[in-house]
Amino acid sequence: VKEMIKRFCETFGPSGYEDKVRQVILDEVTKYADSVTVDPLGNLIALKKGDGTGKKVMMAGHIDEIGVIVTFIDDNGFLRFANVGGVSPAVALGQRVLFENGTTGIIGQEKIDDPKDLKLERLFIDIGASTKAEAQQKVSVGDMAGFYAPVVDLGKRMYGKSMDDRIGCVVMAETMKRMKRSANDCYFVFTVQEEVGLRGAKTAAYAISPDMGIALDVTRTGDTPKCAPMAIELGKGVAIKVKDASIICHPAVKRLMVETAKKNGIPYQMEVLEAGGTDSGSIHLTKEGVPSGVISIPTRYVHMPVEMIDMGDLEACVSLLVKMLESKIEI
Ligand code: ZN
Ligand code: CO
Repeated sequence: VKEMIKRFCETFGPSGYEDKVRQVILDEVTKYADSVTVDPLGNLIALKKGDGTGKKVMMAGHIDEIGVIVTFIDDNGFLRFANVGGVSPAVALGQRVLFENGTTGIIGQEKIDDPKDLKLERLFIDIGASTKAEAQQKVSVGDMAGFYAPVVDLGKRMYGKSMDDRIGCVVMAETMKRMKRSANDCYFVFTVQEEVGLRGAKTAAYAISPDMGIALDVTRTGDTPKCAPMAIELGKGVAIKVKDASIICHPAVKRLMVETAKKNGIPYQMEVLEAGGTDSGSIHLTKEGVPSGVISIPTRYVHMPVEMIDMGDLEACVSLLVKMLESKIEI
């Protein structure tokens, strides 16, 4: 699974430019699925059919990552940029970025006297070009870049680019691999454009029209020095979401998660995330409403160039999802 994490995370794929990462995931999950399709927006939908007596369950994990988009190229070949999803200037400064064609650059800043003036528009990307024409041979206005960092294996923990939300994609792929055929039709949707507003999940949920929705996504932790308080710790198990800014999880779905975790001895923690959302925010508002919840993977340094997860938590997430999908779901 570590090898899969490395492959998924290191692949390029900012919102709307997910072709490469979708192909990598498609190559992995096709062998575990009864059918695999790509919808008009680019969502990858892998179905594991049930025996016809169960429910239709939609899982969603987003394949897109946060990034930057080139807005302007100046006469000296420096690129100005805007954010794609939640990228803060303090986090972007000094980082390396990678474009789809392999071009890399580093993010520099103008002279800034007051730290309050550190805004994205005061930063630029240097790709080593000396003139506008030279820069344009490699990059055009509208091109996107993601952060550029390898995945590192620390043993029980790993850190790397885009754990948000390639680790959710790993949970789904690993679940597909391990689960036995069940009563339920399980749609594993690898969604696009989550970071810019939960967009892919919206059209996929409309098409699938599930009886229940489950997003697989990261959540932040409250266990690092002087961080904002939060009752989630790395290494303490799967996080079962109660609420974030996009959804109040359906009590029946939440209960099913908690009871399944208890019954199977899977370590879990209850999560209330004050800001941020997940694909379930879109899924639960589909048509006349879909009971939905979220299985979160505790992650440190969310929306930074590298993010850290714990292998025990990952295992707990996969076990919980496998057990839920193999059970008889009443909802
Ligand atoms: Zn995410
Ligand atoms: Co995110």
